[in-house]
Amino acid sequence: MVVGSVNMDLAVQVEQLPRPGDTVLGERLLTIPGGKGANQAVAAARLGATARMIGRVGRDAFGHELVAGLREDGVDVSGIGFDPGEPSGVALIVVEKGGQNTVTVAPGANARLGADEVARLRAVLRRRDVVVTQLEIPLETVLAVIACAHELGARVVLNAAPSGALTGRPLPDVDVLVVNEREADDLGGPARLGAAKALVVTLGAEGSVLYEGHRETRVDPRRVEAVDATAAGDAFVGALALALARGDSLVDAVRLGNAAGAATATKFGARPSLPTAGDLKRLFGVTA
Ligand code: RIB
Repeated sequence: MVVGSVNMDLAVQVEQLPRPGDTVLGERLLTIPGGKGANQAVAAARLGATARMIGRVGRDAFGHELVAGLREDGVDVSGIGFDPGEPSGVALIVVEKGGQNTVTVAPGANARLGADEVARLRAVLRRRDVVVTQLEIPLETVLAVIACAHELGARVVLNAAPSGALTGRPLPDVDVLVVNEREADDLGGPARLGAAKALVVTLGAEGSVLYEGHRETRVDPRRVEAVDATAAGDAFVGALALALARGDSLVDAVRLGNAAGAATATKFGARPSLPTAGDLKRLFGVTA
């Protein structure tokens, strides 16, 4: 069960990321479905999960296209509403050759996720479900989602990305907190984040570290040639959620997450790069 953002990504590849004040010429503009929430739902669905998305898009061409795309990927979209007043979320993505990127999100309808979405979650959530959420929707809604999940006995994976809304605030009580290195620093580093029941810090090409209480487990990366890191973190979270939902251990869930993230980095764009179980088998001999 994913409660989160649905965006249309406008992506362009450049030789070198522009510095502030620079103008650079890039390749052809690509319009690709994205949004951390939607990517995570699709990542889980492509690996075999029964995934449901709760979110909001605009009543515009992007909104209809985004919902249709999720449906094609087998995600249950009955929890996605069309906002009458706000446009669909859009992310402006610039990718440097070699994989580094910058992402600027205009949240649009995602900023309006609130009580309606929490009520939709409450109506369908079952004990033993895994709820996944991120910070591209209002923090109050994320906290209400977490409270609702706890009340109904479901587990929560919070991907604290982007981390800005949580900086300097108490950490929500979740089962698994997932951040990248930069977000971990923003939020006070593993020492402070260790208050989470389980913390995963993803390190890109270096794999991931899992912290459970005082236990620290390094999970090795899958080596690939990176083309674009966009949505690698989302693939990680979706795969981890699938693994937890079917009862895998946390370490195994992180291993699957590493494989899914690495596979995603081998292709350009968010949605098209999320792997299927067949891709993981072919690339790494991993069974999802
Ligand atoms: O994590 C990648 C995603 O972040 C992109 O698809 C973009 O929409 C932003 O939400």
